[in-house]
Amino acid sequence: MPKDSDDPRTPMPRLRKPVAADGVAIWELVKACKPLDENSLYCNLIQAEHFRDTCVLAEIGGDVVGWVSGHMIPGRGELFVWQVAVSPKARGIGLGRAMLLDLIKRDACGGATHLKTTITRDNAASWALFRGFARGIGAAVSEAPHFERDAHFEGRHDTEHMVTIALPDAKALARVA
Ligand SMILES: CC(C)(COP(=O)(O)OP(=O)(O)OC[C@H]1O[C@@H](n2cnc3c(N)ncnc32)[C@H](O)[C@@H]1OP(=O)(O)O)[C@@H](O)C(=O)NCCC(=O)NCCS
Repeated sequence: MPKDSDDPRTPMPRLRKPVAADGVAIWELVKACKPLDENSLYCNLIQAEHFRDTCVLAEIGGDVVGWVSGHMIPGRGELFVWQVAVSPKARGIGLGRAMLLDLIKRDACGGATHLKTTITRDNAASWALFRGFARGIGAAVSEAPHFERDAHFEGRHDTEHMVTIALPDAKALARVA
């Protein structure tokens, strides 16, 4: 992420774990970040309270501008990233990538061999984010259709492709800025 001095209009967001009191701000941010699916407010409250160790919130002066929700997949050493949302006013400064990097360096993700996420074919920004992230950590990426339009969504939603990124070990990760 560029330093503050690179662009005086964009202060460096602070990254932290969420708390339940962030729930409404997270819910509003996700709503403002099309084409993300909108969640119930209750879903975001549960994420912020029960899954805070694998979620990242970014704020500038108390204003929530970024969000990553994730969880360790039960019974597998894999981190699933559910949603990444960056406010239009904080896009293009590397915040999405910085939040993913912050997340995989957490103790809670130490046991993860892979990061997984699903992306619809038409979400160019999301493909660019995850491919760029993988490139930045020197990781291999694979993809395959997973939740399919007809089999899983009864035609109501485009196919979600599962993207799998092999994560470097802690020693190699420590060398990634
Ligand atoms: C996708 C999103 C999170 C990217 O956030 P961001 O902080 O602007 O992304 P970054 O600045 O970290 O950029 C990461 C990479 O994605 C690329 N990128 C970002 N937005 C892009 C866009 N709209 N189209 C094409 N590439 C894009 C950047 O150029 C960068 O590429 P690089 O690694 O080759 O340099 C943000 O645009 C967003 O919230 N979109 C709406 C919600 C969404 O689709 N979320 C992702 C699905 S979960």
